[in-house]
Amino acid sequence: MTRTLGSVRPKETSLHRRMWMFFQIAGLLALLLTVYIYGSAVVLKEANSLGRDCIPPHVSEIRENFRPKIAIVSFSDEGRVGLPKLSSPSPRARGFRGLMGMVKSNKISYAKMWGYDFIDARTSIDWSRPASWSKIPAIRSNLDKYDWIFWNDADSLVTNPIIRLESILQSVIGTTFAGDEDCHHSNCADLIVTEDVNGVNAGLFFVRRSKWSMEFLDKWWNMSSFIIEGSNKSGDNDALIHYINSLSPSEMWNHVSVAPMQCIFNSYPWTPTWKSLHRFIFSPSSYWKGAYSNGDFMVHLAGLDDKTEWAANIIQEIKPSSSHN
Ligand SMILES: *[C@@H]1O[C@H](CO)[C@@H](O)[C@H](O)[C@H]1NC(C)=O
Ligand SMILES: *[C@@H]1O[C@H](CO)[C@@H](O)[C@H](O)[C@H]1NC(C)=O
Repeated sequence: MTRTLGSVRPKETSLHRRMWMFFQIAGLLALLLTVYIYGSAVVLKEANSLGRDCIPPHVSEIRENFRPKIAIVSFSDEGRVGLPKLSSPSPRARGFRGLMGMVKSNKISYAKMWGYDFIDARTSIDWSRPASWSKIPAIRSNLDKYDWIFWNDADSLVTNPIIRLESILQSVIGTTFAGDEDCHHSNCADLIVTEDVNGVNAGLFFVRRSKWSMEFLDKWWNMSSFIIEGSNKSGDNDALIHYINSLSPSEMWNHVSVAPMQCIFNSYPWTPTWKSLHRFIFSPSSYWKGAYSNGDFMVHLAGLDDKTEWAANIIQEIKPSSSHN
């Protein structure tokens, strides 16, 4: 410390000290930020080896009589073919352009591996709304041919093809009920979703063939006051959140299952931005449950702008493990 100097030139010293303190605090903050940025990325990427269970191991054995017919349905907004081009396509539409070409073979080879169908439902797009809404008619028009539809926004990839959709369904519905096609028990789970920090996510979810599901899809489609044009939000997710929040507790219990762990089929890559720092501080458990970690079944590039770049990097990253099957 500069005590002796201080007694000679007190003013300068107190300024000196304050500046020194300022630099110390700034240095500490910079250090904490660096630890946060790199540390959180490393820790979350290893969440599964640090004890996180996205699917509890005891339910990953598939029951013998559980053989549902499943289709993975998806499309991406590649522009309004046959219609006048919009002068300014929404930022969301721009982000999705070119994605299907990148992710399609990943999804088809996963579907082939386990006997599911893959459906590119591009022809279902209703251009009177932002394309994202058309997941509803895309699911609806295929639901009578399958027991379950697994909807995939195109900004998603299968990262661990060893995990079967039956394990996921069984884990959420319960092992004892998983083969019960007529659904005589109390919780039928017609809709299986995950939650992120904003609530239920409409990017990846399961719908079971049932009367309830058909009605649900019609009502969701009818929530046209939620439509947002020209934005990177299209409103279909907000409508779904609103729909689910307004269900009675008994209807919710009987028909909707929110998986306890987001990472069961809807993991998000971790990006150390100010927005995620803020959310990380106020809702750390949501990141623990949902951050993409090695071994997770799927990654979903939700809320990211440079989707094709992300997809290219992830395809590169998972190449060695998915090529030897
Ligand atoms: C959806 O809206 C249409 C047209 O307004 C109506 O005929 C239909 O009954 C509505 N469906 C549901 C399930 O609310
Ligand atoms: C939403 O769109 C705006 C305007 O194009 C863009 O600057 C912003 O990064 C987008 N945000 C997200 C999360 O995609």
